[in-house]
Amino acid sequence: MLIDARPPTAEVYTRHHNRPTVTSPTANGSYNRAMPYRILFITAEYAPLAKTGGLADVSTALTRYLYRGGHDVRVFMPYYRQVAAAGLALWPVEFLQDLEMTVGEHRYRYRVLTGAAPGADLQLYFIDCPELYDRPGIYGETADEARRFLLLTRAALECAQRMAFAPHILHCNDWHAAFGPLLLKTSYAWDQLFAATRSVLTIHNVAYQGVFGAEHADELGLDDASWLLHQQDLAEGRVNSLLHGILYADLVTTVSPGYAREICTPEYGAGLDSFLRARGERVVGILNGVDYEEWDPSTDRYLPVRFSPDDLTGKTAVRRALSARVGIAIPDGVALIGMISRLVGQKGIDLIIPVLPEFLRRGDCALVVLGTGEARYEDFFAGLALEFPGQVAFHRGYSEELAHWIEAGADMFLMPSQYEPCGLNQMYSLRYGTAPIVRRTGGLADSVVHYSRDDGTGTGVVFDHYEVASLRWALDYAIRLYREPAQWARLVANAMRQDYSWTQQGACYLEQYARLVGPS
Ligand code: ADP
Ligand code: GLC
Repeated sequence: MLIDARPPTAEVYTRHHNRPTVTSPTANGSYNRAMPYRILFITAEYAPLAKTGGLADVSTALTRYLYRGGHDVRVFMPYYRQVAAAGLALWPVEFLQDLEMTVGEHRYRYRVLTGAAPGADLQLYFIDCPELYDRPGIYGETADEARRFLLLTRAALECAQRMAFAPHILHCNDWHAAFGPLLLKTSYAWDQLFAATRSVLTIHNVAYQGVFGAEHADELGLDDASWLLHQQDLAEGRVNSLLHGILYADLVTTVSPGYAREICTPEYGAGLDSFLRARGERVVGILNGVDYEEWDPSTDRYLPVRFSPDDLTGKTAVRRALSARVGIAIPDGVALIGMISRLVGQKGIDLIIPVLPEFLRRGDCALVVLGTGEARYEDFFAGLALEFPGQVAFHRGYSEELAHWIEAGADMFLMPSQYEPCGLNQMYSLRYGTAPIVRRTGGLADSVVHYSRDDGTGTGVVFDHYEVASLRWALDYAIRLYREPAQWARLVANAMRQDYSWTQQGACYLEQYARLVGPS
């Protein structure tokens, strides 16, 4: 495939055991063998450097998959204060220093740092603009929030120009980079470097849209092309970042087939369903994968004891260690339920509030929760821990290590989300033999199969309706099953056998890239 007017090298790659090997062009100089894709990947999060949720895990694992497949993937993200604190070996890109960008009335200076991603050779590019990114958190609620990510998007495109990097694919994630496709078709369209570039927007959560006031519309720098902005929104005083990605990306993907269907309905589309429906087959759902290098109980570097499906004694040992660590004392035979979550409405905590205390009061289960988020939910779990000492533990905060311990040490993982674009923890839970209890929505429905006592099939407990009674039924079903060791062992064995690796899921992204620019 040759779609690039100015290939930066004369090398052509072919695939051999999924690794790139270099071959020469044919005598007439044309390419008759496959070559890798060049991908410009823009993201607000990248694990473990800057993470608030699954976007970070997916950015890391997907780009690593692409890199290992021989593709030239360049990741652009902000140089947040956390990144600076992480102590990664970075160096300035010589020709990307002292850069300037005018965004509306604002003028910013930035430079670019680069370094290898932790644990991979993949090159990360950090936009170092202290005025916008040297702040306590990754996200904020300041008036310049949209501008922070607009600068990221524009800087990524301008760095590609300066690097003479002609991407086949501009891959934008979430609202933060959603103006990439429109900018490519307007402000940067003059540059032949991008003549063959096709854009992909991946929606990790349609509810976060990056809406800002119409008085800032000039910051997009669209000038004569401003008519391409959604005019009714403008007239009503707002600009919606995600909407413009949906309108102008050559392909819109989201993170599970179920969620792809759901967001085309008014119930789940958060006001954007009609625009998504209008894109028809250009909206595709690809289930996230799991990075089993990070999340596998037989190799997990955080665990005090490792285990595998063939020998679960280690799981019992981690359960004991976890209980001691968080101060839970429960008799054998009582189920330990785990939760790791951003504590926000999406995650179904409103269903948990009226139901879980009933089970705790009866002594049917114990609970360990790790999370931060809305005060009302933090207060609820803090209150439970006080009411049920030795039975409920709540760790308010963020801890990678404790997250691994909970995945490994709990018997069940509770994730009754109101909606869930994909969800990763339920898939991690499967691998750790920790039965997920989930609602049948989005990626949860696509990754967990309800266990049937009759024929011993299924990997977790799945309930349909977002109702208190349904969650009560699901918890009851799970706890009864847990008390039947043969059934439970079957469920755990089924769960641990599931494979949601990126080898499969990443290939789906390559298929979609091929749809846009031809095969690699
Ligand atoms: P979302 O992206 O909506 O938060 P996901 O299930 O896709 O949900 O991903 C959440 C990711 O963030 C998982 O890797 C999970 O382990 C991690 N996570 C969430 N909260 C915490 C926390 N308090 N401490 C450690 N990891 C967390
Ligand atoms: C979002 C979604 C979550 C998904 C993650 C990664 O944060 O809420 O369901 O797994 O993105 O795609």
